[in-house]
Amino acid sequence: MKVFVVYSSPAGSTARIARRIADFFRKGGTEEFSVSLYDLGALKFYNEGNKISPLLKEIDAAGENGLLFLGSPVYVGHAVPPVNNFIDLLPSDTGTVFVPFVTWGGVSSGVALQEMAEGALSHGVRVGGGISMVAPHSHMWRDDNPLGKARPNKNDMEMLDRWLFDFVHRLATSALSPESSIEALIHPDPAVRDSFSRVDLASAAGEMPDRTVRTEGENACTHCRSCYAVCPTSAIQFAPHPVFTDRCIYCFNCVKLCPNGSIVADLVSKERFLHKTSLLRNEPASPRLVLLS
Ligand SMILES: Cc1cc2nc3c(=O)[nH]c(=O)nc-3n(C[C@H](O)[C@H](O)[C@H](O)COP(=O)(O)O)c2cc1C
Ligand code: SF4
Ligand code: SF4
Repeated sequence: MKVFVVYSSPAGSTARIARRIADFFRKGGTEEFSVSLYDLGALKFYNEGNKISPLLKEIDAAGENGLLFLGSPVYVGHAVPPVNNFIDLLPSDTGTVFVPFVTWGGVSSGVALQEMAEGALSHGVRVGGGISMVAPHSHMWRDDNPLGKARPNKNDMEMLDRWLFDFVHRLATSALSPESSIEALIHPDPAVRDSFSRVDLASAAGEMPDRTVRTEGENACTHCRSCYAVCPTSAIQFAPHPVFTDRCIYCFNCVKLCPNGSIVADLVSKERFLHKTSLLRNEPASPRLVLLS
């Protein structure tokens, strides 16, 4: 089988899961699986869409022999725009086996797994399962005790390996149907489903912390363009200082990784809000590993 592990991971946690999945199939050491790993951010998906075409062609060519793991962080309850846009571009009726995986930051895993599966199903895939893991909340890198601290841990990763083992066994022994029910990927709490049917990243944009670019003094922007390099959606333009366009997904990589500390954002009230919301949601932090048949 041809295994494609594709992901978006502004802060690196989804990438960890992606690498673990790829390693699992590579360490299998058989000719049975050939593995390719793709980071949608590094491919500069938005500015250089042509870089994605060879991958889409490969998925198309693999057909029923293809196994696509697609990973996203949960942002405001949903998958991130690069991942949803990638799903929109999937070739039709390939019969590819599809497994969505997400990492979430200890507030709520939302409806991302369900929506990724539904989006891919409309392209004629067969959904084999889903993976949801807690990881450090990527807005809390300045917090000494962020939600999701030190996750996924050794135990989480070993659970993932065992699930992958069972998944491969299931693939070999039972045929997946395109009509398989994905009910087990739906968030069990109706209140969560209801709240995320009404909000998403676009509607929550006004609640994201403001950013200001320092243009004078010791920490003034030097136009080094490092922020552009780490932006997963090519959302930064220079005029001459960085300007954030509406492609911004509020990952805050630009704030975190500017070598001069030139982009200022107050995250303290956001941290307080996230700790409080996490307590209210009270969602179990153990990995959710779903095997469909
Ligand atoms: C804009 C934004 C929105 C987020 N929304 C949620 C959320 O709804 N629920 C949650 O638990 N974590 C949320 N997180 C945290 C991320 O889902 C979590 O840190 C994830 O592991 C990040 O993945 P990455 O390291 O691959 O970028 C959000 C993070 C950002 C930046
Ligand atoms: S990384 Fe910082 S210094 Fe470099 S261009 Fe961006 S804001 Fe300016
Ligand atoms: S502009 Fe900054 S916050 Fe927005 S997507 Fe790019 S790196 Fe993330």
